[in-house]
Amino acid sequence: MAVQINPSILSADFSRLAEEAKAVEGADWLHVDVMDNHFVPNLTLGVPIVESLSRATDIPLDCHLMIEDADRWAPQYVEAGAGSVTFHAEACAAPVRTAREIRAKGARASMALKPATPIEPYEDLLPELDMLLIMTVEPGFGGQAFLDIMLPKIRRTRELISKHGLELWLQVDGGVSASTIERCAEAGADVFVAGSAVYGTDDPAAAVRMLRDQATG
Ligand code: DX5
Ligand code: ZN
Repeated sequence: MAVQINPSILSADFSRLAEEAKAVEGADWLHVDVMDNHFVPNLTLGVPIVESLSRATDIPLDCHLMIEDADRWAPQYVEAGAGSVTFHAEACAAPVRTAREIRAKGARASMALKPATPIEPYEDLLPELDMLLIMTVEPGFGGQAFLDIMLPKIRRTRELISKHGLELWLQVDGGVSASTIERCAEAGADVFVAGSAVYGTDDPAAAVRMLRDQATG
């Protein structure tokens, strides 16, 4: 299970996104938080900025859609250049169709669960996905405290993935830092999103290396 570190540009300087992408050399993916002020009480960026950013960096884009009507918008983010598109289970009317559309357009399909959404109803959908994202904060803002109460869900999801013999990646997002990443890795996560723990430091590339070392154990 290879560890991947995905810095979240939510904590970067939005007026210098291309430079901020260069500052995390060595990162596996750049995590792009798309918020619509409806699904979450915050507004960030959309398709045009993803398009520009995908031209400005060689790091593949991991787009996390915190938006309503995800079925309609998800395929457009693949066309904009995302290598992975995550829609929220709570905002998607037809997750199987949407995941298939994302894959058919050539990107990895991923589904996210808010803290109060259980994994169990989605067990049979797992083969349709390339990644499952377990939120470890309520989505909407960077810099929130990691929710320890999500560790059992991470563990149960890893067990389901193993039980079905799937290759699915298991991502955690929210409050991931030097002091919480080991717990997430131990519970079974292998893809780690970190915003403030990377861009809130003087040397983002060094923070990525440090998080990777800690997750690898
Ligand atoms: C929160 C976003 C996260 C956010 C994480 O809703 O989905 O990706 O950037 O920020 P930190 O790592 O600071 O909790
Ligand atoms: Zn995110």
